[in-house]
Amino acid sequence: MSYQEAAFYFYSGTGNSYRVISWMADAARDGGAAVIVRPIAPAEPAEVGASETDLLAVAMPTHGFTAPWAMLRFVLRLPRCQGTHAVVVATRAGSKIGPFFTPGVEGTATYLVATILAMKGYRVRGAMGVDMPSNWIALHPGLDPATVSGILDRARERTAGFMASILSGRRWFGGWLALLIGLCFFPVSLAYLLVGRLFLAKLFFASDRCTGCGICARYCPNQAIHMRGDRNPRPYWTFRCESCMRCMAYCPVQAVEANHLLAIGVYLAAALLPTTALLAWLAARIPPLAFLMGAPRWILESVYALIILGLWYPLFHMLLSVSWINRFCTRTTLTHYYRRYHEPETTLRDLQEPEGGGDEPLVQ
Ligand SMILES: Cc1cc2nc3c(=O)[nH]c(=O)nc-3n(C[C@H](O)[C@H](O)[C@H](O)COP(=O)(O)O)c2cc1C
Ligand code: SF4
Ligand code: SF4
Repeated sequence: MSYQEAAFYFYSGTGNSYRVISWMADAARDGGAAVIVRPIAPAEPAEVGASETDLLAVAMPTHGFTAPWAMLRFVLRLPRCQGTHAVVVATRAGSKIGPFFTPGVEGTATYLVATILAMKGYRVRGAMGVDMPSNWIALHPGLDPATVSGILDRARERTAGFMASILSGRRWFGGWLALLIGLCFFPVSLAYLLVGRLFLAKLFFASDRCTGCGICARYCPNQAIHMRGDRNPRPYWTFRCESCMRCMAYCPVQAVEANHLLAIGVYLAAALLPTTALLAWLAARIPPLAFLMGAPRWILESVYALIILGLWYPLFHMLLSVSWINRFCTRTTLTHYYRRYHEPETTLRDLQEPEGGGDEPLVQ
């Protein structure tokens, strides 16, 4: 199968999905195609549809066992086309326990995006999940360099196999077990998309290492950070954040932290609010109302948690300028002690201007 023009679009927090799409683009280039590699933002979906492309490839991280909202929004906004070939790749959280590499689970990520593309008229030729080093550094420390390098070698090989198959005209549809798991966990994915990512957005703060350089705000793929304060500007995280980890991974002085204590505090506060107690009281006394302690309770607590966070965050941002409060919040979060991770070869400029901008590293 020979493609004349191939477009490679990616959404990537810490460079994993960018790296995979670059390998894919290199393979297509070697096969004789003219290639473009672009981040989905600020790409205009209408332009993607209008181009002469005969292969569209998209790559993204897995978030909450499904595709990130930014990628879903992008593919949903693509205009209809007539049979352009497409492939979809989701990177996922690879790790290593002792001598064994452990896989992540992409869940519904690839097939959800593939289904939307098919509904838009694309002929989907392949879908693949590929393990890259886990980047959820608000949750766990970054993996050590030897493990990272082992996972990258395996991912490069898997991606080469995938592209060889696609470029020779064969289809590749993997990840059926992951899809099954993703379907079983779809309520979790939905909860992540509707509530989880908003909750996580408001846990970020800058420690007093922050120099106010504004790199995090400038390179956020979702323009989710505002720099606040005239004399001493500090990043302020908005609900647009998708927890992609880029700001935390690339801050040159490791000032971005996630407030674990706040997460526990807000959840307890939401769970202890009187209406939740009222639901529990009703469910205990009137057996047919026992269902109130399931989804309705969860929805109520989630709404509370988001309202509390939304109201609390501006005040919290102000309090952080008090040195001892900032120090206390910094030292009581695990992220302060965690190693950071981003794909080792990927610079911030690669992520924003992949062609031409990547030669001069801004921050390694
Ligand atoms: C908020 C968040 C949620 C994640 N959820 C999953 C998941 O459900 N399954 C999985 O295998 N990996 C998950 N990961 C790991 C990433 O998908 C994985 O490391 C990916 O390669 C990151 O790619 P990127 O650097 O292009 O953003 C998650 C990471 C983050 C930050
Ligand atoms: S990149 Fe780091 S130092 Fe610069 S403004 Fe953001 S948090 Fe502060
Ligand atoms: S604020 Fe940070 S974690 Fe959130 S989307 Fe922007 S770069 Fe990613």
